[in-house]
Amino acid sequence: MENNIILSTENIQKSFLGTKVLKGVSIELKRGEIHALIGENGAGKSTLVNIISGVHQPDDGDIFLDGIKQEYKNPSDAQKAGIGLVHQELALCSHVTVGENVFIGRLPETGGLIDRKKLYEMTEKVLEPFESSIKPDQIVEELSVAQQQIVEIAKALSLNCKVIIFDEPTSSLNESEAQKLMNIIEDIKKQGIGILYISHKLSEIFQITDRLTVLRDGNFIETLDTGSTNSDHVISSMVGKQVKKLYPNKSTCVNEKEEILHVEGFTRLPEFKDISFTVRKGEILGLCGLVGSGRTEVSRAICGIDKSKSGEVYLNGTKVSIKCYADALNNGICYLSEDRKKDGLFVAMTLLENMMAPELKNISRFGLLNRRMVTKQMADYKQKINIKYVTVNQIMNNLSGGNQQKIMISKLLALNPKLIIMDEPTRGIDVGAKTEIHAMLRELSEAGVGVVIISSEMPEIVGMCDRVVIMNVGNLVGELKGEDITQENIIAKISEFCEY
Ligand SMILES: Nc1ncnc2c1ncn2[C@@H]1O[C@H](COP(=O)(O)OP(=O)(O)OP(=O)(O)O)[C@@H](O)[C@H]1O
Ligand SMILES: [Mg+2]
Repeated sequence: MENNIILSTENIQKSFLGTKVLKGVSIELKRGEIHALIGENGAGKSTLVNIISGVHQPDDGDIFLDGIKQEYKNPSDAQKAGIGLVHQELALCSHVTVGENVFIGRLPETGGLIDRKKLYEMTEKVLEPFESSIKPDQIVEELSVAQQQIVEIAKALSLNCKVIIFDEPTSSLNESEAQKLMNIIEDIKKQGIGILYISHKLSEIFQITDRLTVLRDGNFIETLDTGSTNSDHVISSMVGKQVKKLYPNKSTCVNEKEEILHVEGFTRLPEFKDISFTVRKGEILGLCGLVGSGRTEVSRAICGIDKSKSGEVYLNGTKVSIKCYADALNNGICYLSEDRKKDGLFVAMTLLENMMAPELKNISRFGLLNRRMVTKQMADYKQKINIKYVTVNQIMNNLSGGNQQKIMISKLLALNPKLIIMDEPTRGIDVGAKTEIHAMLRELSEAGVGVVIISSEMPEIVGMCDRVVIMNVGNLVGELKGEDITQENIIAKISEFCEY
């Protein structure tokens, strides 16, 4: 039994900025097992796996690989020992090719130069199981978030590791990509590799993991056989208390006559064609469709982030001209990007600077930035949606992924928008905070703010929306309301259209 353990940690402790984030964590990972690491945002999951993979060093405690005590000074030490990590926040070099990223530090050479032909052949092989359209010689910058995620995973697999750690690998993948990844992970497991798997999606945890370990506030809570527990137990173990229902009640106050937003004839071929829809007062509208359906592109065009060829926007019955995102903000329309690292989040700046960024113009009118006001606002949101940070002068990069997302949301809400379009609002957010954010969106909607949600998580659309419009390959293919909003009906609308 003992030698079945490939990796273990004993009493790992770690503090940042004087705050203890790991308070003596011991876990055991078996060969050929998929072991989930779960817990709320800021529980310490990424910190623990960063320690196991040499990114950080523990203040105290030991790591054993194959029963031998390890000391890693850096990630490359851990990699050499056989530990691969697929990072939560993408960590690729964006200006070089996919091949160079996968084989960084191990590039094939002839005569002192990179042997590109060989490199791309090797990369092709590594990418094969993913059946993606990624080319080995493509510059990483050109890839979508999902494709970059695949490159990270391919890189970890190519290292022939004994242990592979996945830190929220599916957070930017669509359902079919995520399913493909699950299959790949199950294949890796058969090779006897130990897999640590972090995710906030309990459906994935129950689908593929053999055991799970719960962390809460830096403490080890319990390790369980996945097959002998259930989601209610796991949720209360993570949160430390019973969780209320995930979704608030649907609207009872939709005013059919009062339109907050009306979008007419948005077209930019070949991405989307003649898209028109309305958001009424008191309702939450879902914009759904598969990834690639054009829902993000249309939203970005409405907000002036990307140029649209044609189309009109009416806000509270008045036509508004939106040529760039600043025009949208001035009109009270704001957009939460699905890719926080690319749009809107300044990871090297402090929380305070991040919160002030979109508002700089408003609050510096008298030549002074109102730091005190923003600090107070942040304290309110910290409490309301349970954001974990030590001080507002902390660098954004030091926050856990889910907490970065919560800051992004707070930043938009602080602008008192008339309409808010949220692209994947709860990506990477734990189940407790999801409930809080959902409740907050419902409150906003009831207070008369227009709310549009785009989400790849079908249950979120079904649970939250009073009406949904459905897109497929750039066309509007249907609309559902009230009780008719079910996963089956949405999928039916999408496939009806595909049959033409
Ligand atoms: N480099 C750092 N400097 C300061 N604080 C840090 C640093 N890295 C992590 N932290 C803090 O440690 C705590 C644990 O963070 P960690 O990223 O491990 O959480 P997590 O469980 O992975 O959360 P999530 O689900 O949101 O990804 C957080 O409060 C975070 O702000
Ligand atoms: Mg994390």
